[in-house]
Amino acid sequence: MISISYDRRQYQEDMIDNIESFDNVVELGCHVGTSTKIISRLCQDATVYAFDNSPESVDAMNNLGIEYKNIIFECMDVRDKDVLYDFAKSHTDIDVLCIDLGGGYHPDTVFKVFYLWSSFLKPKVTLIRNRGLADFVNSSKSIEKIFSSDGYLSSCAYDVIPDELK
Ligand SMILES: C[S@@+](CC[C@H](N)C(=O)[O-])C[C@H]1O[C@@H](n2cnc3c(N)ncnc32)[C@H](O)[C@@H]1O
Repeated sequence: MISISYDRRQYQEDMIDNIESFDNVVELGCHVGTSTKIISRLCQDATVYAFDNSPESVDAMNNLGIEYKNIIFECMDVRDKDVLYDFAKSHTDIDVLCIDLGGGYHPDTVFKVFYLWSSFLKPKVTLIRNRGLADFVNSSKSIEKIFSSDGYLSSCAYDVIPDELK
């Protein structure tokens, strides 16, 4: 299942509706951990891997990790292919992918981050917060029956090979 929202409360509602206690979760764009706390409580028997490249995140997320033992934070650019490739090699059990690089962030970048991370991790659920992608999904239609039931695009996820990561 892939869910797209713009409203931050809806993004968090989607977490509540879809994350279960044994789900390992990757959160791209955790900022200072407001949604990470919610995810951490929802997947209390598993791990949240939270990533952000903002210097503001570092102290806040490291402090959060003291209180919430199932949060692992790393400060990094999620567009970096080597980061994704290394993470995917050592984490083959990710159930949920959450992506919020900023609700108004360029949808093309958010889509590419979604496509690459979800193709490698193959989560059962992906939750995305982005206005442009919500607009695209709500404004488009197709009569062709190309459809994915998991959190990645099954029509093309298997076409991604490392050399194609840019
Ligand atoms: C709107 S904030 C996320 C808020 C958070 N999801 C919440 O619910 O509280 C967007 C975050 O995405 C991060 N971000 C944007 N581009 C990024 C990138 N390329 N790599 C890592 N983090 C990025 C920003 O630093 C920022 O902290």
